Amino acid sequence: MPIKTIIEPFRIKSVEPIFFNSKEERVKILRDAHYNVFTIASRQVLIDLLTDSGTSAMSSRQWGGIMEGDESYAGSPSFYRFENMVKRITSMPFVIPTHQGRASEKILFSAVGGKGKYFISNTLFDTTRANIEFSGAEGIDLICEEGKDPLKPAPFKGNMNVDALEPTLLEKGIANIPMVILTITNNSGGGQPVSMANIKAVSAICKKHGVPLFIDACRFAENAYFIKKREPGYADRGIESIAQEMFSYAQGATMSAKKDAFANIGGFLSLHDEKLAMECRNLLIITEGFPTYGGLAGRDLEAIAIGLEEVMDENYLQYRIRSMEYLTEKLMAAGVPVMQPAGGHAVYLDAKAFLPQIPVDQYPGQALVCALYTEGGIRTVEIGSLMFGKYDQHGQLIPAPLELVRLAIPRRVYTQSHIDYVAEVIIEVFQKRNEIKGLRIIEEAPLLRHFTAKLQPA
Ligand code: F0G
Repeated sequence: MPIKTIIEPFRIKSVEPIFFNSKEERVKILRDAHYNVFTIASRQVLIDLLTDSGTSAMSSRQWGGIMEGDESYAGSPSFYRFENMVKRITSMPFVIPTHQGRASEKILFSAVGGKGKYFISNTLFDTTRANIEFSGAEGIDLICEEGKDPLKPAPFKGNMNVDALEPTLLEKGIANIPMVILTITNNSGGGQPVSMANIKAVSAICKKHGVPLFIDACRFAENAYFIKKREPGYADRGIESIAQEMFSYAQGATMSAKKDAFANIGGFLSLHDEKLAMECRNLLIITEGFPTYGGLAGRDLEAIAIGLEEVMDENYLQYRIRSMEYLTEKLMAAGVPVMQPAGGHAVYLDAKAFLPQIPVDQYPGQALVCALYTEGGIRTVEIGSLMFGKYDQHGQLIPAPLELVRLAIPRRVYTQSHIDYVAEVIIEVFQKRNEIKGLRIIEEAPLLRHFTAKLQPA
């Protein structure tokens, strides 16, 4: 019989401790943190699933690259290695390094955003939306129908609703739409992939109207793997070739190298349009740095170049995607409402179904985040009305379409027994779900409020 067990495709050379505390201590920590886990110190967290961003374990090759990083102000060979790698994947001639994804967004939307402009997406991530809004423009999400029901499985729930795209372009006016953005995979919609057919269809509509298509490429390799596994015609194609095809339909891309480049910091903006690239480079120089380092050190550029190559390894991606499925299957078997199918970088709990007794204006997602921390020291993040809620003119909450809790799995960091522990804690909380109470906000910022909001039990 063929061996079925999928193992971690690495062995561990360097370890760091994790920190244990008691449930009583965690109750107090959470109260002092005003029920916002962003303000808890990482040493008070046992398993940190807050984000997969910047939390990857780098490989020995990446650490070797760190030592080889050339710190020249201009024209460092580390930059050229980085630039070549980005060009190899995207075929875009202009590559602009930034210190992280949102720096690329800030520069891009400063150049093309502004009042009266609209950016249409499958789903904009929070920093992307915030940078668009900060420029004075508006973001519009057009997610496909399957993407709206967390519990209903479908292969490509990150797809854009193509039927809605053209009418939206025409309604808002082509001249007012600087670009369409596909977030790949769709983080805020559950780490769900976008199919090649969808990218192609969106690109064809964009082309017809002369609107550029951009890709938010943070998790491009995970998306390429889903295409290989789920989309007819791609089973025999390599990940790099699938990724190249994805980018071939786009005029530009933003990327946070803190995700699918296994780097602890970094990002880039890549473009076909020379005029826009010049404008972005000018903004880069006054905010991030000279064009051959952006906001990064030479060593970071090396780590990113190597990480971009490593992430396209199929053994790695198989293990990566299987880890999410493994946790999802365990939770499903216990009846926990969990997003299906599993996403590429995270497992998402459906907090509305988990805690039906808590109304959306008492933030069921955040209540669940707090319960998971209290029960097992697991830090997760709410992706629901605390993150995306708005107020109408009467100060009433306009809730987010979904109330999710994300368990983002850092790359190459936790082992299967860590994941088994996580499953056990969630199932324990699920059994006690009737005891969990809602929260209300007592203090909040106008943008990205979830990072700093203070809450208390409702
Ligand atoms: N786009 C997407 C789809 C993201 O997931 C993120 C970050 C960004 C842009 C911004 O990149 O953090 O390097 O500035 N997502 C992290 C997360 C923070 O936890 O999902 P950044």
